Amino acid sequence: MSLGLLLLIGLGTAIFWLYRLNREYYVLAFFAKRVRTKDGRPLESIAPIAEGRTIFGNCFDLYGRNDAEVFTDLRAKVKKMGRSYIEYVMGRAKFCIIDAENFDNILNDQNMISKGLGYKFLHPFLRTGLLTSTGQKWHSRRKMLTPTFHFNILSQFAEIFKAESFKFVQQFEGKDEVSISLSELIPRFTLNSICETAMGIKLDDMAAKGDRYRENFSMIEKRFISRISNPIYWNDNIYRLFGASKDKQFLEEVHGFSSEIIAKRRKLLAEEIKEQRNNQEAVDDIYINKKQRFAMLDTLILAEKDGLIDHVGICEEVDTLMFEGFDTTSIGLIFGLMNMSLHQDKQELCYQEISEHIADDFSNLDLNELSKLKYLECFVKETMRLFPSVPVISRMTQKETELPNGLILPPGAVTMLHIYELHRNPKYWSSPEEFQPERFLPENSKDRHTYAFMPFSAGQRNCIGQKYAMLEMKTLLTVVLKKFKVLPLIDPKDLVFQTGITLRCKNDIKVKLVKRV
Ligand code: HEM
Repeated sequence: MSLGLLLLIGLGTAIFWLYRLNREYYVLAFFAKRVRTKDGRPLESIAPIAEGRTIFGNCFDLYGRNDAEVFTDLRAKVKKMGRSYIEYVMGRAKFCIIDAENFDNILNDQNMISKGLGYKFLHPFLRTGLLTSTGQKWHSRRKMLTPTFHFNILSQFAEIFKAESFKFVQQFEGKDEVSISLSELIPRFTLNSICETAMGIKLDDMAAKGDRYRENFSMIEKRFISRISNPIYWNDNIYRLFGASKDKQFLEEVHGFSSEIIAKRRKLLAEEIKEQRNNQEAVDDIYINKKQRFAMLDTLILAEKDGLIDHVGICEEVDTLMFEGFDTTSIGLIFGLMNMSLHQDKQELCYQEISEHIADDFSNLDLNELSKLKYLECFVKETMRLFPSVPVISRMTQKETELPNGLILPPGAVTMLHIYELHRNPKYWSSPEEFQPERFLPENSKDRHTYAFMPFSAGQRNCIGQKYAMLEMKTLLTVVLKKFKVLPLIDPKDLVFQTGITLRCKNDIKVKLVKRV
């Protein structure tokens, strides 16, 4: 047999073999195992497959796109697909979810606690803290940190939020009106608040360092997006060789800041415990001791003494709590105040309610009174519906997983839960683009799917800080509204959104504050 014939037979066999293999694996998407259906129904009858930009499935859909284009491309894709859909990316199936039923299925699946691939790119920054860890490590950390969000502790934090809110409005004291950049001032407020509540450290004499932390954090986020949009960098070894050196300086700065906070708190806590011993108080009472301010970081330092966590573990959790605690609430507050400025009638309703419940000198501003501000709560929820701080989260299957809708996801498949899109899905929200806090009044929400509104996620990996966040946001809004009328300085049509670790907006969002008389 001639060599030519042999080659031809070999080539034919290879093509036939690849053709067969392609039924089970998307070969050109780097052998991504395909999603199947339980009863052999066509996949498209449950979830359509999104066409990719190249012949390599969806591998290069984001390649070369900037952070604003990544955001708009995704929006356009969701609009085109119209329902939850499937993609194949770099050897993996990806189920992109925009409906409440599948949010429910995924978030309540006990076997789906591992996070998606994108979280791995956060490891150099957060290592494997509560947000990014999985398995036994996640379970034990969650158990360790849950008591630190207890009601008693939150009521202590309410005092700090109040004091920080006063400091926020004091900046404008003596002025009848002032134009302010929310994008600049709010993150400073939320970073101060998380450092004082969770870390037990006042940033007053570290303000410049706090600003630098935020600048470096923002650079880390840019690097994160450039890695996400270039699949060649998804491989850790390639990234380490060609990409990671650019991150080094930013990482050193943010880790340096958190390390300084930990060192300061260790010293303060040692002094406080010594003082307590002198006063013969039990260290265990530190959680509920009303005289003493409790910081979440103290739990970690005390757990270290019991051998339950080491120094690196403490750093992981401090970085996680600091990032989650400052960035998410700052987005909620920026858009909350922007919405106050844009919807004067709704602002007035909030103001009336605040006037009714909160004394002019704020002496009764506490958890109890804040819980009576029902309309304000609807306002904050509607803000989080339209501008969820965390627009997308994801999970990864550890084994073949059958969903109630009949889809069978292969092991290693990623489920992307698009909170931003869920919150604008017309299936659950009439006139989804309109700002209507009244949607959240009990009579208007009773028939809505429970999983149609998921700003804090749900299930066992829901947001541990959601009560903390609501308390902080409501406190600042109450203090600002009582002192000032908020007027608009931005046209919402000009907003340019970007994809980040959290929801990003290119614009400098400003409002005008006019003193109430
Ligand atoms: C408006 C404010 C906030 C929003 C919208 C928000 C949203 C979320 C969401 C959607 C998740 C799930 C993430 C995922 O599944 O990957 C989450 C998790 C988490 N959040 Fe928040 N969050 C907020 C504020 C906070 C605050 C103030 C803290 C801490 C003080 C915090 C700490 C955490 C932590 C540690 C996790 C990981 C929980 C786990 O996996 O067990 N968050 N948050």
